[in-house]
Amino acid sequence: MANTEKTLNDLFLHTLKDIYYAEKQILKALPKMAKNAESEELKEAFETHRQETEGQIERLEQVFQILGKAARGVQCEAINGIIDEGKELMEDFAESEALDAGILASAQAVEHYEITRYGSLKTWAQELGMNDAAKLLDQNLQEEKKTDLLLTKLAEARVNTKAA
Ligand SMILES: [Fe+2]
Repeated sequence: MANTEKTLNDLFLHTLKDIYYAEKQILKALPKMAKNAESEELKEAFETHRQETEGQIERLEQVFQILGKAARGVQCEAINGIIDEGKELMEDFAESEALDAGILASAQAVEHYEITRYGSLKTWAQELGMNDAAKLLDQNLQEEKKTDLLLTKLAEARVNTKAA
């Protein structure tokens, strides 16, 4: 079935709903990840990112407002899969020496998903001439990149501690 009437605007709105849903799921998942993590630094990183995520959700609501649309999510199977995989891993590796390594890897999978979504959304907002929306999306993108870098540092610190 050809969808010749669909536009980039439609794709933008659909993807905005997708990441809005994803952020809300992540907001729910982060306290569980903090609770399960063994390292204090990792717990702290998740708590900081939980607070950031609340701000990110607010920015997305501002983007919906710019579009004149109600803030509403659409089920995103990709993020559900990534989060479910993380939960499974936390059960399978509970009390093991590899638990934090697994939690870190799951958290980075989440960040990478968000980075790809925000990258596309920001580019489309620019293409559609919505500069204020592009700025808000870029702020979220930069926070996700910063979190991903922090997680990489924590993962490397884990390895170095082990090697020492
Ligand atoms: Fe996020």
